[in-house]
Formats: sequence, structure tokens, C-alpha cells
Amino acid sequence: MEQSRPTKLSIIGAGGVGVAIAYAALIRGSADVVALHDLAAAKVEAEVLDLAHAMPFLAAKSIEGGSDLRVIAGSDVVVITAGAKQEPGEPRLALAARNADIVRALVPGIREHAPDAILLIVTNPCDVLTVVAQRESGLDSARVLSSGTVLDTSRLRWRLSELVGVHPRSVHALIVGEHGDSEFPLWSRAKIGPVLVREWREDGELRFPEPELDRIADEVMHAAYRIIEGKGATSSAIGVSTARIVEAILRDERAVLPVSSVLGGELGLEGVALSLPTVLGRGGVERVLEVPMEPAERAALERSAEAIASTLRSLD
Ligand code: 2OP
Repeated sequence: MEQSRPTKLSIIGAGGVGVAIAYAALIRGSADVVALHDLAAAKVEAEVLDLAHAMPFLAAKSIEGGSDLRVIAGSDVVVITAGAKQEPGEPRLALAARNADIVRALVPGIREHAPDAILLIVTNPCDVLTVVAQRESGLDSARVLSSGTVLDTSRLRWRLSELVGVHPRSVHALIVGEHGDSEFPLWSRAKIGPVLVREWREDGELRFPEPELDRIADEVMHAAYRIIEGKGATSSAIGVSTARIVEAILRDERAVLPVSSVLGGELGLEGVALSLPTVLGRGGVERVLEVPMEPAERAALERSAEAIASTLRSLD
């Protein structure tokens, strides 16, 4: 029987987010081999050792890492988490100039040591940096994507599930647009089981009139700010969300997730990256779905695209 080659995920940056992704990917077995890279040698070696000590209980086959970028050789997916993080109250777009420089500096080395890898950007602002990484790498836009609103969507599904007492897996709702302040839920499509959220009733009354939908959207959009106030940064849920994206790619699942990639005319948008429901497979972005939207949602998507485009212009 033909043996399939082990899959390899590399993560650049051994901060809280990088380590959370490695931890989630090892537990879930998102890839056979997980590698962690950081320029801070003592820190990355300690993190790798700490993770390796759990190896008998993990689903993945091995963990490696270090400060030499050659550790990413043979990767199928390289995740970038390196960069400055938000201070309390700071929007993600404010990090653009600082983190664009970091991504531009990283891409040539990644291309040299892992020429076949798909790039997955987690560093914020992840949509802006996806465009920067795609331009810098010259890779096809299918092979450069970001975690986008996968986490925000998970937050929304969890919040709705808490409010109605239904498992989050049965909440089919989606946040689209920028992973940031201009993101918005696609309420026109959101369902709990087969029932539209807008039509969900408790004791005969509609549970989610428009002001309540606005309140939930605002709460989800501000969720990261709340966590940053309390613990300095978010890490656990972005770790699992990113591992989920990686396995959809490496297992060629054709799963639909709201990742962000550089658009080529979908819904009339070109040259910006933002999140839309996207079919993920071994080639990366297999297809961006042109989901039907109400006029107000369409206008919100255009505002989100403009927020990203104007930040990109400020970098030129
Ligand atoms: C998050 O949404 C801060 O982008 C990060 O958790």
C-alpha cells in the first residue's frame, strides 16, 4: 500500500498565539509534524520542550522548532503569527505599518525554505497583511490566506447558542468582511437548525428583533477588546480556529470557512482581502462563494473593503 507523506505545519512566532496554535494542532492532529520558529532561541526552545513533554498523549507525530528558519523546510502550511499586538483599546488596523514591515521581511525566507507551502496569516491586521504577503511572495492568491473571521464567526455561533440553548454546531451563522471593527454578521442567512435567526420565537415572540441583532453584532465585534483588557491578548480560541483551518486544507476537506484571501472580482471586489465563505482544500482557497446579500449587507461589505483598501494605500 502506498504510504502518504507526513504533513507538516510550521508556525512563525512563539508568542501566546503561536504556541496556542501549536498546542491545538498537536492535540487535534491537524498535521503530522508541527514546527515552531522564533528568533528568540531560548524562548522557542523552551516552548518546544514544554509541548514535546506531552507527546505520548498528542494526536500529532512530532514537534520540532528553533531559531533557525531551516526548521520550516518541507512545510505544507506556514502560519505567520509574528508581530506587534494590540494595546488595550487599540484597533487592529493601527498595527498595519509595523506588522507589514515584519511580514515583508519574513516572506523571502519562508519562500526559500518552504517553497511549496501555503501561507496562512494570523498576525493583525490579517486582511491587510494577506495582501502584503501575496504581493511580496508572488504566490497565486489561492495559496495566501488569513484566519479572517473564522474566530469571530465561532464567537457569534457560541453567543447565539448560549442565548437559545442549542449546541453551537447547530448554529449556522457567519461574520464576513474585515477581521476588525467593520466586520458584520450576515443575518439574512443566519439559522439555528433550519430556522432563520430572524424568525426564531420564544413564547410566541420573535427572540431577535433588529436592535437585539445589532447588540449581538456589537458584542461579538468587541469581544477581543474585552479579552485584551482582561488578559492582555487573545490566544486559546484563535489557536483552535487556526488549527481547524489548517486541517481543512491538509485533509483536502472542501470545508466552507470564512477565511480571507485576495479577491479577484468576487462580489465586485478586487485587490483587497476580506472574509467570505470559502471552500478550503489541498490547494488552499478552492473557491470563494458569492453569497447573496441584502442591500444593507452589501453596503456594509463595501465599507469593510474600503477600510482595508485605505489602510493598504497608507502603506504604499
Ligand atoms: C482576536 O480577534 C485579537 O484578532 C484577535 O482575538
